[in-house]
This record gives sequence, structure tokens and C-alpha cells, in this order.
Amino acid sequence: MSLLKLLVASVRDFGLADTLDRLPAYALAPFTRSRLRRRKLAQLSGDGFDEAHGTDTAAILLGGERGPSVSDGGHVVSRYETSSETAIRLALDSLAVDHSRFTFVDMGCGKGKPLMVAASYGFRRLVGVDLSPACIEAARRNIARYGPEPIDASRIELRVEDAEAFEFPDDPLVVYLYNPFPQAVLERVVARLGESLTRNPREVAIVYVNPTAAVVVARSALFVRVPTIADRLPLAARDVPAYQRAAVFVHRPGAGSVHPSPPVVSQPGGRMA
Ligand SMILES: C[S@@+](CC[C@H](N)C(=O)[O-])C[C@H]1O[C@@H](n2cnc3c(N)ncnc32)[C@H](O)[C@@H]1O
Repeated sequence: MSLLKLLVASVRDFGLADTLDRLPAYALAPFTRSRLRRRKLAQLSGDGFDEAHGTDTAAILLGGERGPSVSDGGHVVSRYETSSETAIRLALDSLAVDHSRFTFVDMGCGKGKPLMVAASYGFRRLVGVDLSPACIEAARRNIARYGPEPIDASRIELRVEDAEAFEFPDDPLVVYLYNPFPQAVLERVVARLGESLTRNPREVAIVYVNPTAAVVVARSALFVRVPTIADRLPLAARDVPAYQRAAVFVHRPGAGSVHPSPPVVSQPGGRMA
């Protein structure tokens, strides 16, 4: 991947001023990679997930290591990193839905940690989408070796695919995002989800961790932001860094009208239905 191509995509996604700000990081990335990786590895493996389950989800993967750093659509592809298990659980617990009615979709699933955590919630099906074949391969390995209780891999579909092209399944959905895309890509993904909802109205929640482009979902008439456990009980989230806290949005059939449905959190835990 040439630096020039990355710079063109960065100007498109982040604008010229931001790109100039990022320039030192882009230019130095090949030299700082192993130092960054080590530091992140130490920080992320701290939650004990990999040690407990025999998996390899920690560390970060940068462009050259994890596949293309500009997508087919010409956008910057974020590096791979993951969040703590507590951050994932806190976000999923905020929904308090009957998970067995929902399909869980991780858009930009990386090495599969949220998929493996979500598998323990009893979702009817789980789908992981990532542009990087290296990430999908790592997710497949992780799911296969997860223990001590094995995960039923037949419930999990892994796809090497650009999220911009992904067709959402026709089920009630929990769509999980860990800051995977620049705003321009998220806009297209949310627009596709909106088209899917218009065609087939159904319950959909968006769980957006490190929600740097939350405005994209917030301004859609189809989604209402609901308080999470971390919003209401900050002490419960004291071990989760602020950037790993989720913004949760829900859609219920009818919420796209002029008078959107009221926020659906009415019980402790943010029950959706
Ligand atoms: C911050 S990582 C999050 C990984 C995972 N969701 C987790 O929480 O552990 C973002 C992931 O999104 C993927 N990604 C970035 N742009 C993408 C795109 N356009 N389509 C599909 N995946 C993409 C990257 O390859 C990376 O693995």
C-alpha cells in the first residue's frame, strides 16, 4: 500500500487539516509498529480473556499486517484493536433483550472477541464481517480453540467483505461496532441498514463502542439513543476506559415516522422489549 494512496484516502475521510495532523503517525508507522504493538499487547491482555480461553485477540494489527489499509471504496481502513471483555458485556447487558430472538452482527469483527463474548448470550446466530482475510482467519482459529466450554461454531458466520457492501440479514439484529470506520463509511453502512429496515421493519439495536462518529446514527430518524448501564450507573463502568464505553441506539418498527416511538428503555438494564 503506497503512502500516497493512504494520504489520498485520508484527505477524503478526514480532511486536509486532520491528515496533516496525522502525517507524522502515517510516516512513522513502519518504525513504531513493534513498539506500539508491544505496549498495546501488555495493556489489552490485562483483562485475562486470552489466558482464560486459549485465544489470541490482543495486540494491534496495522495496515500492512492485517490487509489493505484503504478499502475498495477508497476509504482509510482502521487498524485492528479490541476492547476489554467488560466493555463488551457492559454494552450488551444494556440491551437486556431476549437475545435468542436476535442475530448479532459485528461489523469489522477483527479477531472475533465480541463474537465469542456474544456467543455466551444465546443469540440465535452470529455474523462477523471484516475486510481483512488475516483478521477473519484469526477469528476462525480463535472460535475453534475457545475453551473451556466450546463455542458452537455452526452458529457463527465469518465473512471477508467490505462493510459498505454487506447485506444485513432479515432478522432482528444487534449490530456491534467498535469504532471500525471513518464517518463516510459509517454513513453508507447506516444508510444500507435503513434501506433494509424500510424493506423489512424489525427490531434493530446498534451498539457502538468508542463512538467517534455517533452523530451519523444520532441524526437518523430511524434510531433513538437509549441510556446504557454505564450512563446510569457510572460506578459499574469504573474499570472501562471512557473511550471504550458504548453509545446504544434502538429502532423499533414505526420509529421512523414523524413521531418516533418513545425511547424503549423502561426498566433497569435498558430493556428493549
Ligand atoms: C477497531 S477493530 C475492532 C475489531 C472487533 N470488532 C473488536 O471489537 O474486537 C476494527 C476492524 O474493522 C475492520 N474494518 C475496517 N474497515 C472495514 C470495512 N470497510 N469493512 C469491513 N471491515 C472493516 C478492520 O479490519 C478491523 O479489524
